[in-house]
Amino acid sequence: MNKVRIGIVGLGNMGRFHADYLLKGEVQNAVLTAVSDTFTRNLDFYRGKVAVFEDCSQMIRSGMIDAIIIATPHYLHTVLGIDALENGLHVLTEKPISVHKADCERLIAAHQKPGQIFAAMFQLRTDPKFIKIKHLIDSGELGQIVRINWINTDWFRTEAYYASGGWRATWKGEGGGVLLNQCPHNLDLMQWFFGMPSKVRGFCQLGRYHDIEVEDNVTAYFEYHNGATGIFITSTGETPGTNRLEIAATRGRLVFENGNLLFTRNEKDMKEFCQECKIGFAKPDVWNIEVPYAKTGAEHKLVTQNFVNAILNGETLIAPASEGIYSVELANSILYSSLIGEMVELPLDSSAYEAKLKDLIEHSTHVKKVREVVTEDFSKSFSQ
Ligand SMILES: NC(=O)c1ccc[n+]([C@@H]2O[C@H](COP(=O)([O-])OP(=O)(O)OC[C@H]3O[C@@H](n4cnc5c(N)ncnc54)[C@H](O)[C@@H]3O)[C@@H](O)[C@H]2O)c1
Repeated sequence: MNKVRIGIVGLGNMGRFHADYLLKGEVQNAVLTAVSDTFTRNLDFYRGKVAVFEDCSQMIRSGMIDAIIIATPHYLHTVLGIDALENGLHVLTEKPISVHKADCERLIAAHQKPGQIFAAMFQLRTDPKFIKIKHLIDSGELGQIVRINWINTDWFRTEAYYASGGWRATWKGEGGGVLLNQCPHNLDLMQWFFGMPSKVRGFCQLGRYHDIEVEDNVTAYFEYHNGATGIFITSTGETPGTNRLEIAATRGRLVFENGNLLFTRNEKDMKEFCQECKIGFAKPDVWNIEVPYAKTGAEHKLVTQNFVNAILNGETLIAPASEGIYSVELANSILYSSLIGEMVELPLDSSAYEAKLKDLIEHSTHVKKVREVVTEDFSKSFSQ
């Protein structure tokens, strides 16, 4: 194979975006050969350009594609992903890889065939500032991390956004709110940077700002195995909102905010200074360092290019889908803790959470109102 034939399922906001750069030839050695959507109007633009399928299972079995990008509502990532993997396709799934941890386990278990590539669309892992932060952590430059504080409240969404799809912001259609839709990227970065916490306490407000039944305002507390603690705050109801990531470590403090990455570096590691200094109120001297990084955005097509390169020549994946379980586990744990009113120990009991979610679906009384929305620049939704 010297060109990967790609099919896309789900031609809403995200699927159309992927189709657009593929049709423009912006991913090397890849060609869009088929698309699928159950809503036939969404297929019209593609008729005559590529093969179109109302039924994705036919596209999967058509012999016209080597790989599939899944950009449907989240629950279907599991169903369609398993079908595609079992039929030998390479799979790139949108985030979250599934709605809940038990579905992640089922999906990941279907990835069996040797040489089969299974990746997830975590494009923020290609963002230069986040790569820089990861490098500073992994290289030991920050010393030992003691506290993380991410206020991530610039995910503002209007009532029109929530009314734009029947599946959105319902337990049955989406399985959650801001934690499942906007935050999988941030939660993926949290686990990519810091690993998984051992304990999670969540406080979620359901429908605080919008006419929805799921969470749109969240505060979570994490405890890590080494004693470090973390706070993660998010909301789709605040504007202007804040995006401030502060990492306190023994070698200093790293802050990302307003596009700047600032490292206030202790001349001496805090632990050493604390033990050795003879004066009670002293502090180590600091250097203020503005950490440079390339001001390009995170690019979906970089992840797609990496997926294609992995298929053709074994390039290491930026975001293997198997790692997608962690952001889902964090989102589920925050919600579960809030719903039962207790701290949750990780690893999360995936069956207990699945049962809780089923219960929420069965007892839902919320009436979803759907309406057409004005077409707009969807890429505005990516900024972080
Ligand atoms: N990586 C990112 O930056 C990013 C950004 C936005 C959305 N997403 C993800 O992309 C996915 C889709 O989100 P969206 O905003 O495009 O939603 P959307 O509602 O705009 O589009 C979903 C599409 O899937 C189609 N669909 C539903 N069931 C189907 C089926 N069985 N077979 C084929 N098509 C089906 C719908 O008709 C619709 O066209 C979500 O999982 C979301 O989390 C990722």
